[in-house]
Formats: sequence, structure tokens, C-alpha cells
Amino acid sequence: MPAETMGVRGRWPEAGHTYLVAGPLWGTVGAPFYPSHEFAIRSMLDLAGVNSDSVVYDLGCGDGAIVAAAARHYGARKVVGIEQSNRLCAIALAKTRGLRNASIIEGNYDDVDLSEASVVTLYQSASENARLKGKFLRELSEGTTIVSHDYGIPGWHPTQFCTFKDHRRGYRVIVYVMGSQTPGQGT
Ligand SMILES: C[S@@+](CC[C@H](N)C(=O)[O-])C[C@H]1O[C@@H](n2cnc3c(N)ncnc32)[C@H](O)[C@@H]1O
Repeated sequence: MPAETMGVRGRWPEAGHTYLVAGPLWGTVGAPFYPSHEFAIRSMLDLAGVNSDSVVYDLGCGDGAIVAAAARHYGARKVVGIEQSNRLCAIALAKTRGLRNASIIEGNYDDVDLSEASVVTLYQSASENARLKGKFLRELSEGTTIVSHDYGIPGWHPTQFCTFKDHRRGYRVIVYVMGSQTPGQGT
């Protein structure tokens, strides 16, 4: 069986909970797969103000739940999910089938130009968010919103920092707006 289809149980040290990865751990650049709960997805898309004008990029879209919600329930103009695991991409494609405003790119998000995004959604680790700062500064225009689940972008000042509790666990949604609201951006 190819490694990509195996599925490995393990722990995501920064998150402290169990995850299911669809591929080998050593192939993972950012966080392994751990899906955002629908409550968290709703909070992220609400706080980012996603609407019919939005162009949303989900970096590491996993099973495509954020992409499907933004496209179907928020009617975003365009939603792009990028995922390195081909197994998860297949699930994301099935979940977004028929949604003409949604697409899934299989690959590394480092290689995808984000410049048209008005909203970027993230559920990566703090260290991965720190690594992504350079890409955000190069590619995102002023006013673009970044909304991150649980982990902040080290050194950047959020415009909103919200803590929620659903029936199972607490989660955080952290919002950044490129430009004037992020004085720590250069760091
Ligand atoms: C914690 S999961 C989040 C999934 C989804 N965004 C959500 O919130 O439900 C992180 C995902 O990022 C993917 N990922 C990590 N690094 C990546 C990279 N460099 N390029 C594309 N996908 C990546 C992983 O395969 C995993 O599916």
C-alpha cells in the first residue's frame, strides 16, 4: 500500500491531541491533518467577514470542510483549498463537488501564489505560521484578512483574538489584517 494511503495515528505535539495523517509524517511540512470542527469553521468565516465578494484560500485544506462551508454557506466568490495529501484532496474534491466557486489544488501551499486572496484561513502550528510570514508579506495585499485556528502568528498583532467553547473543547480564532493593524509585521 502506498504510504500516502496508509493513515497513521500519532500526536501533534503543539496541539496535544491525536490526529490522523494520511501520509508519512516525514512528508509533512506544516501541521498534520486535524480537522477544524464545524463550530470553529463558522467562527473563523464569520470573524473574517466572508461574503459573496470574498476570495478565500485555505492553506492545508485537509478534507475540504472550510472550502465547502465558505463556498456553499457563505457564497464566497472564489474559494481555493491547497492540500499536500492526495488522499485528503480526494475527500475535499468529493466534498466540494458541484460547487463552481470552489477548487482544490493538490500540492505544497508554498508553491501557490496567494495574491488574489482577500481571506486566508489557516490551521497550522505557531512555528509554521511564523515561517509563512515572509510569504504573506510578499504576496498578500493590504487589507487581506488572515484567520487562524488556535495558533497565532508570532510577533504579529491580531485585530481580533476570540476564545470559544463548544460542546467538546475550547478553541481560539485569531484574526490579522495585512497593513495598518499589524505593526509587528516586519518581525
Ligand atoms: C490541522 S490540518 C487543517 C485542515 C483544515 N484546514 C481544517 O482546518 O479543517 C493541516 C493540514 O495542512 C496540510 N499541510 C501541511 N503543510 C502543508 C503544505 N506545505 N502544503 C499543503 N498542505 C499542507 C496537512 O496535510 C493537513 O491536512
